This record gives sequence, C-alpha cells and structure tokens, in this order.
Amino acid sequence: MLVLGLESSCDETAAAIVDDAGRVRADVVHSQVRLHAQYGGVVPELASRDHLRNVGPVVHAALAQAGVDLTDVDGVAVTHRPGLIGALLVGVEAAKGLAWAARKPLVGVDHLMGHLLAVFLQRDGREAAPPSFPFVCLLASGGHTAIYRVDAPYAEAVMELGATRDDAAGEAFDKVAKLLGLGYPGGPAIERAAQGGDPSRVKILAPMAHSGSLEMSFSGVKTQVARLVARDGLPADQDARDVCASFQAAVTGVLVAKTIDAALEQRVDTVVLGGGVAANQELRRRARELGATRGLRVSVPAIASCTDNGAMVAYAGALRLVRGERDGWDLTAHNRTSLARVTRKGRGRR
Ligand code: KG4
Ligand code: ZN
Repeated sequence: MLVLGLESSCDETAAAIVDDAGRVRADVVHSQVRLHAQYGGVVPELASRDHLRNVGPVVHAALAQAGVDLTDVDGVAVTHRPGLIGALLVGVEAAKGLAWAARKPLVGVDHLMGHLLAVFLQRDGREAAPPSFPFVCLLASGGHTAIYRVDAPYAEAVMELGATRDDAAGEAFDKVAKLLGLGYPGGPAIERAAQGGDPSRVKILAPMAHSGSLEMSFSGVKTQVARLVARDGLPADQDARDVCASFQAAVTGVLVAKTIDAALEQRVDTVVLGGGVAANQELRRRARELGATRGLRVSVPAIASCTDNGAMVAYAGALRLVRGERDGWDLTAHNRTSLARVTRKGRGRR
C-alpha cells in the first residue's frame, strides 16, 4: 500500500510517499524558517499563506521523486490536529481535493501519532531494526513534550505518563536562543553554540528534575538564562558556549532521566525518541548511554524523521488505512491532540 501524506500543522509544508512497511519513497519538506526568522517565532497568518503557496508544489515534487502518479497511491493522509488552525486547514483541504479527484480514501492523522511512529520509517535502508511494542516514547518538539507508553501503533493504545506543565522543551530552546541572540529555530542554533562549551561552568538547574514524578517544566530554565543575561549582559565567545552547553545539559538530562524512569516503572525494555528535539545529538547520546546502563534498548529515528515531515504522517495514515479506517469529506482541523492527557498545563496531574 502506497500513501501520500501531507503535513502543514506549523511551519513546514511537507508531502511524502510511504508504504505501509514504513519505506520512504519520497519525502519533500519546504521549511518556512526564513520567513519567520525575523520575528523570532512562527507568525500564524504568514504560515497559512505560505502553506497555500507551497502545498501544490511539494505534492508534485513528492510524486515526481517517487516516480508515481496520484492514481498510483492507495490513500491520502493529512495532519488534521494539533496545530495552528489556519495552517492545518490548508493541508486538510488540499488532501480532500486530491483524494476526491483521485477517488482515493482520506484519513486524518494526529501529528503526535506521526512523531511517536517516526522511528519506524526506513530511509535508504540504513536504519537499525525497528523497536517492538510496547515501548516508552519521549516526544519532545516545539509544541509538545510528554512521555508516552505505546502498546500498539494506534491512538487508543497510547497512554500519556507525564508531560510538561508549561513550555515544551523545543520552545525552551527557541526562547533561550532568542534571549542569547542566536536566531530561530533555537534548537540547532543552541546545539551548534554548545560545541566546545563547558556544561559545568554555569549553574543551570532543570526544574522538577528530582520531583519523583514524570511531569516536567521548562519555563524556569528559560528564566534562569534570562536572569544570567540581566546580571552579566549578553554572553559572548566561550561564555556563550558555556551557557548553551549548561542549558542543553540541564534540558536533555531531565528529559532522558524521566524517560528512562518511565520505562523502568512500566517494566518496558524499549525506549524511543521522537519530535524535533530528538534531533539533538546530546539528547540522543545521553539516551543511548543511560539506556545501556539500565539494560534498555534505545531506538532513535533518523534526523529527518525527528523534525516535522510528511513521511511520518503518511506512515501513521497507512496504518489507519490498513485497519480499514476512513474519514469523510467533513474532516476538520483541531488545535488540540486527540491523545488522552494526564498533565494539565500549569497545574499538574489530572
Ligand atoms: O517536531 P518539530 O519539527 O515541530 C513541532 O511539532 O513542534 O520540532 C521543532 C522544535 C523546535 O522547537 C526546534 O528548536 C527543536 O524542535 N529542535 C531542536 C533541534 N532541532 C530542532 N532542539 C534541540 N536540538 C536540535 N538539534
Ligand atoms: Zn512536530
């Protein structure tokens, strides 16, 4: 089964062709980073307009890259939640038009399911063996940060174990990069700046690191960096490298420790990473290292599968289609995920 997947929930317009075994036949991502860079974050209205401009071209490019026609695919999958409504609507309506014209089934995909299953994507056939169920997955992106138990590749089989009470981990990277004048998006900028930095020179504590729960908090880490800048001025050269390395160590340290704790608590022997922050080499290294000392298997997606892409949407959609699931022409966009949540923003456990 071949599926065309569309993604437009935030600042990437993406289309991909993937089969139901996760083999990626084509993957085209148009990033809006340059468009939003001058504002230091995503401007929703500009995002929607740019998706409108690029959704047609990325679909054409994906079909050409795979060497197939629209009539060759067995279904059209599209991210319909969570995300910016105006941005999601562009992808959803484009997917409806394509599915209607080609007389193919349409399925909506929860973006978070895409991230949770991205580890199964096979690019260039170089990936390690896929993980087996059940596993515990750390999903850390710009909009979400949570730890899930995943028993099967369906939304009903996913259970949130704990999440951030405030900012997402990626949001913390973005806000700290902005504070330090490193530009947007912050994750890659901080990772670069942290190279050659001493993570122990500046004291930055990750809040709730020793709370004994799987809940997290990242707004306080940003505040600590803001205080440093207010006290000492904008760090430069080695000072900047040290601040970035300390911040990165605090955030990746708490993410990895809680994820490993979750796997041990759940008596699950496999840990998976997902979401844009999982592209971070320090996070990947720490997860592999701590996982190995605790006897856990750690599965990490290819970098291109971590940040937003159409392939993860096509794959999650393919699994829905294989189960005989379909959505109607009344498919709509929602700003919230369909996955059950246990951690409430600002308040902790439900
Ligand atoms: O998954 P994603 O592409 O979009 C969302 O669903 O949010 O994640 C984007 C987030 C941004 O906050 C970005 O700064 C962060 O992932 N990110 C990283 C890295 N690459 C992207 N964070 C840390 N290190 C990276 N290398
Ligand atoms: Zn995402």
